Amino acid sequence: MIDIPGAVEAGSTALEAAMAALAGPLAYEETAYHLPISFAVTGEAVSDADSARAAWSASARNPLVAWECVVAGRTAATGPAGGAFTGFIPDAEIRKLGYSLVDGSILGLCLIVGTPRHRETAPALCRELQEKYMLTFLAGPVVPMLQEANVRVGLEYRLVPLGPAPSHGVHFADILARVAMMFGGVAPGDAARLLAYAAERAKAMVIVFPDLTDEEVACVDALRMLGVPVLHTGGYSGGEWVATGGQDAVRTGMDLLGIRVTVTAIPIPMGCSPAFEGKSIRKEEMYVEFGGNRSPAFELLRMRDPGEVEDGRVNVIGPEVEDLREGSAVPLAILVDVAGKNFRKDYEPVLERRIHNFVNYGEGSWHTAQRDLIWVRLSKEAVRNGIRIEHLGKLLAAKFRMDFPDLLDAVQVTLVTDGAEVERLKQEAEAVYEERDARVRGMRDDDVDVFYSCTLCQTFAPDHVCVITPERPALCGAISWLDGRIAHEISPAGANQPVLKEGLLDRDGGEFEGVNRFVRKASHGAVERVRLYSVVEYPMTCCGCFEAIALVLPEVNGIMVVNREYKGETPSGMTFSTLAGTIGGGAQTPGFAGISKGYLLSDRFLQAEGGIERLVWIPAALKEELGPRLRAKLEEKGLADLFAKIATEEEATTIEELMVYLEQVNHPALGMKELF
Ligand code: SF4
Ligand code: NI
Repeated sequence: MIDIPGAVEAGSTALEAAMAALAGPLAYEETAYHLPISFAVTGEAVSDADSARAAWSASARNPLVAWECVVAGRTAATGPAGGAFTGFIPDAEIRKLGYSLVDGSILGLCLIVGTPRHRETAPALCRELQEKYMLTFLAGPVVPMLQEANVRVGLEYRLVPLGPAPSHGVHFADILARVAMMFGGVAPGDAARLLAYAAERAKAMVIVFPDLTDEEVACVDALRMLGVPVLHTGGYSGGEWVATGGQDAVRTGMDLLGIRVTVTAIPIPMGCSPAFEGKSIRKEEMYVEFGGNRSPAFELLRMRDPGEVEDGRVNVIGPEVEDLREGSAVPLAILVDVAGKNFRKDYEPVLERRIHNFVNYGEGSWHTAQRDLIWVRLSKEAVRNGIRIEHLGKLLAAKFRMDFPDLLDAVQVTLVTDGAEVERLKQEAEAVYEERDARVRGMRDDDVDVFYSCTLCQTFAPDHVCVITPERPALCGAISWLDGRIAHEISPAGANQPVLKEGLLDRDGGEFEGVNRFVRKASHGAVERVRLYSVVEYPMTCCGCFEAIALVLPEVNGIMVVNREYKGETPSGMTFSTLAGTIGGGAQTPGFAGISKGYLLSDRFLQAEGGIERLVWIPAALKEELGPRLRAKLEEKGLADLFAKIATEEEATTIEELMVYLEQVNHPALGMKELF
């Protein structure tokens, strides 16, 4: 039995000795926040042992700061843990998580450290955390124990193996510190706000198994400063940790954090949870696949009259799993028929996109793309456990009813694996897709009276407000105007509210009295004015989960865009992660706008700055991704030759190189009106 107060005292002495002995450079890669805890608490950019000691004394010898510096020192000495371990998690990964942290698919964060006494304990606990929508971090011997039990770990399974020692749990704390700075607008060095922010907003807890060293006990205990409850499953006494029986650790922790979750099990022989959404099923692991250019496949969700839909009914037309050869590619049609008093035909595509999420919730089912481009796999393991094609239908019917109770009264699913029938139905589906596209293509900001707000990210960025218009999708890329409208109809008091598009103040900039009024109120007075289509003046606020950043390059009279995936240098002199670190937190930063990648294809893109002719640089991968659509857009505008003139890192990574290139190709931005 470890006495916690005694261990904390001995552990603090050990940490002090380690701080005194610290040597060499200390740094993490792919972050704009240096050693994030030290930076958040003190505002100091720690880069070596001396600056670490300086920051530590500036923090009044905060044990979290010491913990971070000591682990960074050990990592510098031995190299990153490698193997299955993630070690320090780059900023971009955390930004990617941003949206799931607010949309309800991740309800909280949990750190597990120590050595479970029994082999079965950790797998059961982790499965419960996955099923209850928690994102779990693991540090120490618990990781190999899970692997021995064949539990898959990784960010894609929401079980993140930070490192082989419990002390690697410090990366859990550095994530909390970065969330506060990235999304919460907490200024580096404002320790009081950091602690208040973490205590109020970070829904985080720790579960401790036996056998931590004194130093590890002191470190974990220090997490309580951030308002994180520490629970243990036995082996510790005294102090402020909460004793639980192990089986009830997750429930107790979630209760302490005020997280309520009701998980209704779907009666099929595989686990279903957003925790499995990010997994993949590799070729060797797959039993059967559908689509993906290997066989014809498509999906279609249609509104039907109530009499035509029998709730919960699932039909399979064609061969079932037992008739299929292992490793084969088989045709598939997924037809979801829905009926509901409150359902409208134009909701169809929005709900249809959920098929992708729901199929991926299955532990052994995988889905990518949409419409007639889908590619679906079932794993060997799932088939071994009794999963059949029919169960995909059960899963879809159940999830649609669960997630849209007010919209849907009945859901019926038909799965067709008969090749000729799939081909025949596919013709019909194509006609429906075309009809829908025609409707959306025609949608313009000028045609609507209301835009929609989104304030989901206020969980982390309290003053942030997104305004979503038909031609300006949300910066996170996750919500379109139609999504906003439907979300509002489904939950009228929710995070998506109508924003009246009245009182035009500036046409090109996209400034409206109605929008300003809304934003002023929703930002609690922090933001007075917003120009929807401007990067330079009163741009929309940034929360932190933007897919890309648009920013002004005054030297070339142009605007560049860099997306989250691009790791290299940009002509602005900063990488994406450095740039991202300087904006965000719900603030308005003139000259910078967080945007979605899709916004580049909009007629409203850079409207205030004179249009897409201002675009001077984007990463090559983004150019390729947008390629055909961007070319088509430019052609439509009579700017076909602009595509080649937009530089990428292949032409320029510095502003000087960019200048030379733009001159050489005679880029239109050079001849445009001065930006300032
Ligand atoms: Fe956050 Fe804006 Fe996306 Fe809503 S629309 S989730 S507020 S980034
Ligand atoms: Ni956000």
